[in-house]
Amino acid sequence: MITALCMNPSFDRTLEVDRLVPGELNRVRASRQDVGGKGINVAVVAKRLGLEARVVGCGGLEGAAAISAMLDGEGIRHALLPIPGRVRTNLKIVSLDGSSVTELNEPGAALAASQLELLTAICRENAAGSDWMVLTGSLPPGCPAGAYRALMEALDTPCILDASGAALRQGLTARPFLIKPNLREAEAALGRPIASADDARAAAEEFLRLGAQHVILSMGGQGAIYTGEGIALFAPALPVEVRSTVGAGDAMLGGVLKGMQEERDMALAFRYGIAAGAASVMTSGTQLIVPADFARLLEQVKVLPL
Ligand SMILES: Nc1ncnc2c1ncn2[C@@H]1O[C@H](COP(=O)(O)OP(=O)(O)OP(=O)(O)O)[C@@H](O)[C@H]1O
Ligand SMILES: [Mg+2]
Repeated sequence: MITALCMNPSFDRTLEVDRLVPGELNRVRASRQDVGGKGINVAVVAKRLGLEARVVGCGGLEGAAAISAMLDGEGIRHALLPIPGRVRTNLKIVSLDGSSVTELNEPGAALAASQLELLTAICRENAAGSDWMVLTGSLPPGCPAGAYRALMEALDTPCILDASGAALRQGLTARPFLIKPNLREAEAALGRPIASADDARAAAEEFLRLGAQHVILSMGGQGAIYTGEGIALFAPALPVEVRSTVGAGDAMLGGVLKGMQEERDMALAFRYGIAAGAASVMTSGTQLIVPADFARLLEQVKVLPL
């Protein structure tokens, strides 16, 4: 059983226009809306790969029912703390002529200190029966940057932290079992550019020194590096047809969790993450992953010692 925390869920709304012209009337050719949130994505991928998954979190009262319905549809149990306000909308405007993709993200409903306490209790209760706890995604307005660190310190379950900026930096001191920064997040957290394979390996190893027990540094189409105590591996990305790279990192974590359940070993679980990341880029937009793609790609993963 895995539990994923989602503190700032969203509705991801995509509008397609011929060519976006700011300040003018733009006619929408097609639109769709999906439930978003990185914790939810990880839980959905893990569930589709055969794990028992649960989502805990909070969300604006207005819109929470739609999130519950989506999770019910995926067979994922959930405990969402309702907070005043509404679930945020992240708007993406795609120009069909390929000229631009414009994103407008709302901040989401604010979380008060008293509600964070209630949420911590929900996390404790659900983490107690879980093999893994996943903490990922942006923190809602009003939530201190140290919230993930404090939550991890309050839990006895091994935690996987996929955060950025101060939430990642501070979270390291709680010695998370695994962190999964991408290149951009690693550069920001360490305050230096990562321009070569050597830099990437050094960055991953520095995260170990800063407190992480295991590190996967994901590098999009360039693959990923895994480091743990006394081990460093590189896996090139699998050559797949790329439809959408959104959520590849979330899928990667779902895959790693599947790998941990099957293999009980992070170096082997890394392979599952590479396969799940590749499977997710093959699907369009918000589909996340098709399990048959994952199973086929897992056979193809190549891992090299660094
Ligand atoms: N174009 C690609 N082709 C093949 N595999 C890919 C591609 N992009 C990503 N992947 C796989 O997915 C993994 C995670 O991708 P990435 O580094 O983009 O995560 P991310 O930036 O955290 O994504 P997100 O936060 O949007 O979920 C990569 O390490 C790689 O194994
Ligand atoms: Mg990511």
